[in-house]
Amino acid sequence: MAAYHLDLTARKIRGARIALLPGDPFRPPLMARWVAQRYRRPLPSAPLAHKREFCTYLTEIAGAKVLITSTGIGGPSATIAIDELAQLGVRTFIRVGTSGAIQPRIRAGDVVITSGSVRLDGASTHYAPVEYPAVAHPEVLLALMAGAKASPGSRFHVGITASSDTFYPGQERYDSFSGYVLRRFQGMTEEWRRLHVLNYEMESAAVLTLCAALGLRGGCVSGVVVNRTQKERVGAGELRRGEERAVEVAIRAVEVLVRGRFRREGLKG
Ligand code: URA
Repeated sequence: MAAYHLDLTARKIRGARIALLPGDPFRPPLMARWVAQRYRRPLPSAPLAHKREFCTYLTEIAGAKVLITSTGIGGPSATIAIDELAQLGVRTFIRVGTSGAIQPRIRAGDVVITSGSVRLDGASTHYAPVEYPAVAHPEVLLALMAGAKASPGSRFHVGITASSDTFYPGQERYDSFSGYVLRRFQGMTEEWRRLHVLNYEMESAAVLTLCAALGLRGGCVSGVVVNRTQKERVGAGELRRGEERAVEVAIRAVEVLVRGRFRREGLKG
C-alpha cells in the first residue's frame, strides 16, 4: 500500500534506509543531479513520486540507496514525511536546509550543524512532551561534523538551533505585513543569542524530536543565508551558496554513515 501523502511504497524505495530532507520540492531533482555527477552515475530522469510538497528522488551514495524527499516548510509537513518514510523502512533522516544566524561571528555561506534545538514549534509536541529534548543522534552528528571538515571552503559551527513554527514573528522579524511582533517574542533574538543559540530555522525541532522519540537517527545541517544581527532579508546569491554548502556536507555525512565509521568505533546508540 502506498504511503498516503508521499505516494511511495516499500517496493518503490528499494530498501533505502537513509533520507535527506530538504524543504523545497524543487531541490530533490537538483540534489539528485549533484549526487549522480559526483558518483558518475546516470542522471535521474524522474522522481519516484511527487504529491503536494513531497517530491522524492532515489539516489545512490557510496553504494547505498538514499532517498531525497522534500518536506515543505515547517514542522507539520516534516512529521508526515518522517512518519511515512519510517513506515516504509527508512531509519536515518538528515534535514538539509537554510537558516538565519544570530551570532555575529557566523557568516552567510557558513554551515550550522544542529546538536539540539529549542522547540519553538507545535508539531513535535504531538510526538513527545515539551520536556523531551530535540537532540541529534550522536552518529549523525559526528558524521555531519566529519562531512563538514571534509568539505572544502565550508566554515562550520556546531550547537543549538532555535526552531520556530513561523518565519516572521517567531524569528522576531519586523519586515512582515503588520510589522508587529507579539510582546513575548520581542527581544527574543538577543535572548537566544546570549544563551549561545546559533541560528533560526523551522524544521529541526520536529525532525530531531521525532527521530529521537521513535528510535530513529536524526540530524540537521543548515546553510546560513543571512546573519540576523545585520539584516532581515535573504539575498538570492546567499540563498544558493548556503544551500549548496549544506547539501555538500550532507552528502559527505551520508558517505561516512554508509561506511559505518562511527559504528565500528563503538558509538552505536
Ligand atoms: N530560514 C529560516 O527559517 N530563517 C532564516 O532567517 C533563513 C532561512
